[in-house]
Amino acid sequence: MSTQPVVGELDKIATDARRRIESAPDKETLEELRVELLGKKGVVTGALRGVGVLPADQRAAAGARANAVKTEIDQQLVARQRALEQNRLEGLADSEWVDVTFIPDGAATRGHLHPLTQAQREITAIFSRLGYQVALGPEVEDDYHNFQALNIPEGHPARDEWDSFYLTQGGWLLRTHTSPVQIRFMEAHPPPIRIIAPGPVYRHEATDAGHESQFHQVEGLLVDEDVRMSDLVGTIEYFSRSMFGADRRIRITGDHFPFTEPSIGAAVSCGICKGAGCSSCKGGWLEIMGAGMVHPQVLRNGGIDPERYSGFAFGMGLDRIAMLKYNIADIRRLRENDVRFLEQF
Ligand code: PHE
Repeated sequence: MSTQPVVGELDKIATDARRRIESAPDKETLEELRVELLGKKGVVTGALRGVGVLPADQRAAAGARANAVKTEIDQQLVARQRALEQNRLEGLADSEWVDVTFIPDGAATRGHLHPLTQAQREITAIFSRLGYQVALGPEVEDDYHNFQALNIPEGHPARDEWDSFYLTQGGWLLRTHTSPVQIRFMEAHPPPIRIIAPGPVYRHEATDAGHESQFHQVEGLLVDEDVRMSDLVGTIEYFSRSMFGADRRIRITGDHFPFTEPSIGAAVSCGICKGAGCSSCKGGWLEIMGAGMVHPQVLRNGGIDPERYSGFAFGMGLDRIAMLKYNIADIRRLRENDVRFLEQF
């Protein structure tokens, strides 16, 4: 190195370095300064190297000064680094605070269960108090379980009531009611039986305020020794009072289903018009279920001896029940998923 470092030059390096280190805005700038000053090709390193070629009488003083400058700069770098870190920590409360209670307008609000789910759970709770268990069956059914085992052979006029969606192969169809679960459960379990079977069912229907092509039913089946019609009516009454309150009235009428004998229909007074008649009810009443004593042949089809056992069955429309319970005028609202509607429940 041909440069002749003099003490004055080292002083200039030191002053300059101090000024720049003290005003360094961040860690990255500090690191650049360290390399520029103390790195292998740094100014101070160069000056130190230059000391070696000085005349012998100057060497000791210049060497000492150069080393002192190096140590000084080192300490200043460390001090500035600490100061920057300290500032960062003190500034954190202002730069990084998060309001954990903040809710952006209209977003991230808390949801709740769909009214159909609420109604289904309530029905399940009421019947479980009576000792019923929940049974499920497939939504894609075969003709035997959906019709034949329920006394509806091919060509039977009752099939017209259940205009069905058929799969293109294998004769499968979307179940038109939850009644096939009766058969499937009896096939697998001996009496006593107490089940409810909730789930979606499908019918090829024109839609209006009271009809949809997909809706939900809750099937009920009780099979035991000595079961009578009065047990069925009492069960319907208990259910209606628990579900709708004592102020709603129920009406039992005769009906016909191929799989129950005798068959009845149960209706509950409409809560919207209080029984006067409106667009969502038939003259003040809403039919909630078909029911009856299980036909002996249906018991036999389920592997149960009708000489020893008898039973009742019912099937209710969950959508209707939810409409009655929450006074919903149009069944289609239940599947539109409009939050303005759903959040009311
Ligand atoms: N499965 C019948 C329907 O969908 C309802 C029903 C069930 C009737 C059980 C009687 C007994 O209409």
